[in-house]
Amino acid sequence: MTIMDQFRLDGTCALVTGASRGIGKAVAIALAEAGSDVAVSARTSGALDETVHEIEKVGRKAHRIAAELAHSGAAAKVVDHAASYFGGRLDILVHNAGIAPTQEDGTAMILPLQDLPMPQWEDVISVNVNASAAICRAAHRYLNNSDKASVVLMSSVLGLMGAPRLEAYGASKAAQISLARSLAVSWARDGRGQKGIRVNALCPGWTLTDMTKVASEVKPLSDWLINHVPNGRWASVDEVTGAAVFLASQASSYVTGHALVVDGGLGVPDSGLAGFPKPQSPLA
Ligand SMILES: NC(=O)c1ccc[n+]([C@@H]2O[C@H](COP(=O)([O-])OP(=O)(O)OC[C@H]3O[C@@H](n4cnc5c(N)ncnc54)[C@H](OP(=O)(O)O)[C@@H]3O)[C@@H](O)[C@H]2O)c1
Repeated sequence: MTIMDQFRLDGTCALVTGASRGIGKAVAIALAEAGSDVAVSARTSGALDETVHEIEKVGRKAHRIAAELAHSGAAAKVVDHAASYFGGRLDILVHNAGIAPTQEDGTAMILPLQDLPMPQWEDVISVNVNASAAICRAAHRYLNNSDKASVVLMSSVLGLMGAPRLEAYGASKAAQISLARSLAVSWARDGRGQKGIRVNALCPGWTLTDMTKVASEVKPLSDWLINHVPNGRWASVDEVTGAAVFLASQASSYVTGHALVVDGGLGVPDSGLAGFPKPQSPLA
């Protein structure tokens, strides 16, 4: 097998959640470009149809599953539906659906914990943590029949750092990293063959999507966030997809329990010697 072959996903079946837009949509298309058939899930059917269309354009099979992952029992139904579409198989799970606290109108809530209403805390934990556990639980029996089983939980570099004013989000993303590490060990000798069911977390930094639209479009907020990024810019979703394909593929066959950071250097403890200015928070 050549090194480029190790990144190919031909013959595999994948499920990507949160694939109607943003990082999840880009990852679903990238997996298809690498050769995987892909079932895609989110709440919005119309947007999912676009993802399905893009996957079919690259010659792979695609299937749309509309579901609200905050609803109890929904995660298991999504997994069963995807596996049933693939004839009882599932090799790759990218659980990417996730939220940050928002107001009713969808704008971001960047508030210290003591001011964050508990329903918003519960929403974030429900989608980011509870659905992660439920989807992994449901996927195990299918992954257990695969010799190329790989799970990628879309966490965040904020799960490895503090996330002031985004405590619910940071705690939920840290929980996903812990879940990935724990499952990596629990499932290391499961699956067919010798590779186990691999479980990793992928930890992007500030990436341009709907989730970060307000932060990227309000200039003082964007400048403040990006001044903390050594690369000095936002990532595009296409800069996250390579890491997802790596973790899904045999190129990472001995990588499990890892938190792979794709953040332009944001999470590197900074001595300040480079001299990059750290402006005052516009939120302070
Ligand atoms: N953007 C960043 O800077 C960044 C950085 C680090 C990590 N991340 C993580 O990357 C993942 C994707 O983020 P993104 O920026 O691409 O966000 P996004 O553009 O807001 O997309 C979120 C996706 O999740 C789906 N989703 C949200 N709530 C759902 C629910 N209750 N049930 C089912 N599907 C749901 C959305 O689809 P519907 O609305 O159609 O349901 C959409 O497809 C998240 O886990 C996020 O935490 C993002």
